[in-house]
Amino acid sequence: MNLAVFASGRGSNFSAIVKAIQQGKLKIKLQLLICDQPQAPVIRRAQRAGVRVVLVRREDFASRIDFEAAIIGKLKESKINLIALAGFMRLLSPEFVSAYRRRIMNIHPSLLPAYKGAHAINDAYKARAAFTGVTVHFVDEQVDHGPLILQRKIKISPKDSLASLEKKIHTLEHKLYPYAIQLYVSGRLESQGRVKAA
Ligand code: GAR
Repeated sequence: MNLAVFASGRGSNFSAIVKAIQQGKLKIKLQLLICDQPQAPVIRRAQRAGVRVVLVRREDFASRIDFEAAIIGKLKESKINLIALAGFMRLLSPEFVSAYRRRIMNIHPSLLPAYKGAHAINDAYKARAAFTGVTVHFVDEQVDHGPLILQRKIKISPKDSLASLEKKIHTLEHKLYPYAIQLYVSGRLESQGRVKAA
């Protein structure tokens, strides 16, 4: 089975996926990194890991359809079965989502539907929420939305700084995302995201 990771930034989840594959915990071939930001640190991480990088800048295409057609061309070339969004800060079109329905996963640093968007950790921290967490879900046409696969809760302690909360969330993400992808690989996810017993 072939995986493509889509990312726009730092790439710590990308590296967690690479590590899980190297350790034999995740049995999938990471064929491609699709990145839309030329300066993103994730590009260097992919180069170091020997993963092919495809840089697609939205500005280089006249329309979103053309932009996504270029991506789909690369996915087909590499016979990609599953897409993992890992900090990919762009909404995919309904056409793209329907072409890869239940084959696109996303990780988000909150207990969805709470705190959608690009600043979820900060939003939960500022709201002085008692809990937040991490969600992995299948992607549908809306932002940070679609059938839930896994959620894990984290307590926000009064002693937490924003930095310590971020650290806790990222540590959890790095375990949860490879695990969720392996559930898919081993055929343990129903189309509504429910996990079947082993
Ligand atoms: C992760 O925390 C991920 O959950 C979040 O972006 C970060 C990417 O970090 N995604 C979203 O907020 C999606 N709405 P990384 O580049 O270090 O993997």
